[in-house]
Amino acid sequence: MKDYITTQDFTKEQILDIINVSLLMKKHIKSGKVLNVLYHKTLGMIFEQPSTRTRVSFETAMTQLGGHAQYLAPGQIQLGKHESMKDTAIVLSRLTDIIMARVISHQTITDLAKYATVPVINGMSDFNHPTQEMGDIITIFEHMPEGKKVEDLKVVFVGDATQVCASLGMMITKMGGHFVHFGPKDFQLRGEYLDILEENCKVSGGSYLITDNEEEALKDADFIYTDVWYGLYESEMPKEERMKIFYPKYQVSMDMMKKCAPHAKFMHCLPATRGEEVTDEVMDDPVISICFDEAENRLTAMRGLLVYFLGKTEEVIEKCNE
Ligand code: CP
Repeated sequence: MKDYITTQDFTKEQILDIINVSLLMKKHIKSGKVLNVLYHKTLGMIFEQPSTRTRVSFETAMTQLGGHAQYLAPGQIQLGKHESMKDTAIVLSRLTDIIMARVISHQTITDLAKYATVPVINGMSDFNHPTQEMGDIITIFEHMPEGKKVEDLKVVFVGDATQVCASLGMMITKMGGHFVHFGPKDFQLRGEYLDILEENCKVSGGSYLITDNEEEALKDADFIYTDVWYGLYESEMPKEERMKIFYPKYQVSMDMMKKCAPHAKFMHCLPATRGEEVTDEVMDDPVISICFDEAENRLTAMRGLLVYFLGKTEEVIEKCNE
């Protein structure tokens, strides 16, 4: 596969391989060892929207692996004004070894991948957020409840049907787990997304449920995940309006966490709007909350993906096992 536009392009086995090599590198680098497998490689990073985690994790990953990343900030390259996507893709393919882009429209990332001759990674579009998905599944593996496998998990996304909600659903059903979207009727996953979940479940044996019924959503949940309350279908709503729709039923609170499995963990892609989709008490709980592990695992995932798409996986496995 040349590009990473959606996790749908990977098989479950390929995802497991990326998780394994990512965790191998995490251990190796955390122990202070050097892993210069991307020496002299350059990543071009196009951002049409701002970012903290995606930008910093890609840049840090390239530095740690001996390469370099160039931040092409919103509005600071010719793309969209004096230069087409096609020409930008051709030029960046001559100047860099791999490209990532955070784009407003999904069409932009598919066009970029079509015209670029180097690998292209989707750093989030209005359709999905696949690098977040990869970091999240790594985090879930690290916090797997005792005696369970990924196929046994119930992973519940609470709230608005954002790109992250869609991406989590794709990843969990691809891996054979049970995915639930617990959200208000007009803000639930629908259309093409449900076709994808359906298709994944047929292959993996996983399942999914879209519901506004709290009891069936939360019962025995292993992981509770949320995101901001303005996402995929609607442009940003005023606070008063979104509180009317989502609060208090869909706010992740200690009361909500108590309705899940006793070992349930809280996840959030961040940034969070504290006091809206999650309380401070849950987000800062040292046992329940793993949202900052998730943020760190963006870096774990980026290293794994960069190495995979630059054809260095075998070399990494050899070096980490020396
Ligand atoms: N979760 C995430 O993608 O964060 P950033 O927008 O800060 O990159």
